[in-house]
Amino acid sequence: MSALSQLKTLYHLTLSPIRGETHQERLESFYSGQAEDYDAFRKRMLHGREELFAQLPVTPGAVWLDLGAGTGRNGELFGERLKDFHQAMFVDLSPSLLEVAKRRIRDRDWKNADTLHTDVTRLPHADASVDLVTFTYSLTMIPDWFAAVREAHRVLRPGGTLGVVDFYVARKYPASGRTQHSFFTRSFWPVWFSMDNVHPSADHLPYLTANFTPQYIAEHRGKLPWLPFIRAPYYQFVGKKA
Ligand SMILES: C[S@@+](CC[C@H](N)C(=O)[O-])C[C@H]1O[C@@H](n2cnc3c(N)ncnc32)[C@H](O)[C@@H]1O
Repeated sequence: MSALSQLKTLYHLTLSPIRGETHQERLESFYSGQAEDYDAFRKRMLHGREELFAQLPVTPGAVWLDLGAGTGRNGELFGERLKDFHQAMFVDLSPSLLEVAKRRIRDRDWKNADTLHTDVTRLPHADASVDLVTFTYSLTMIPDWFAAVREAHRVLRPGGTLGVVDFYVARKYPASGRTQHSFFTRSFWPVWFSMDNVHPSADHLPYLTANFTPQYIAEHRGKLPWLPFIRAPYYQFVGKKA
């Protein structure tokens, strides 16, 4: 990624004002100027996606929905396993990011993959029709993320898998065995990320754990390109619908 591209993306992330009356307009205002450089830049800040995907089951003939899929980069993370899906669907509300996903599908000749432009809080899929749902760094950008998780639960078949990785902060008094965060961590990251309409929440992990049978939970911290001395907390969650 050239220095100029990096500066352009950094400008959109930090200084460029986000405008728009609706959620979709605000997403486009944020993403349209950085869609082409999205993958190269986010690789350095959206941690833990590779490890999450290494744990997710791919059964032949399965249907996978990637919700808030952006550029469809997650398709790469399954490697050869992607071919085993009956259908891989990249769902997003940002047309400019979906254009990159469409190009990727064409270039890679992923015959079983497609894109869907819709709000993931209102999916067109039938109840219990999906085997695997993923959200990678999308729940924090979905205003009604509770509705998005409810939709994931509705469309998953019993025994189906949900995989999530995202920024978060811990509750002041987290559940036993979960990581505790300092006052600074709990206060700083929600304010910092809110400038980009990203909202790390203390409720993701408790809500996911209450609605899906946990198979794997991990809590980590990762570097961000422009903040050298502190690391942002993120979690990985894999759960099954009962
Ligand atoms: C930080 S990006 C993550 C993209 C991708 N999952 C990744 O890991 O690179 C968040 C994505 O969520 C999408 N998004 C936010 N709200 C949405 C909604 N209500 N419905 C569908 N997509 C949404 C955005 O357009 C954006 O592509």
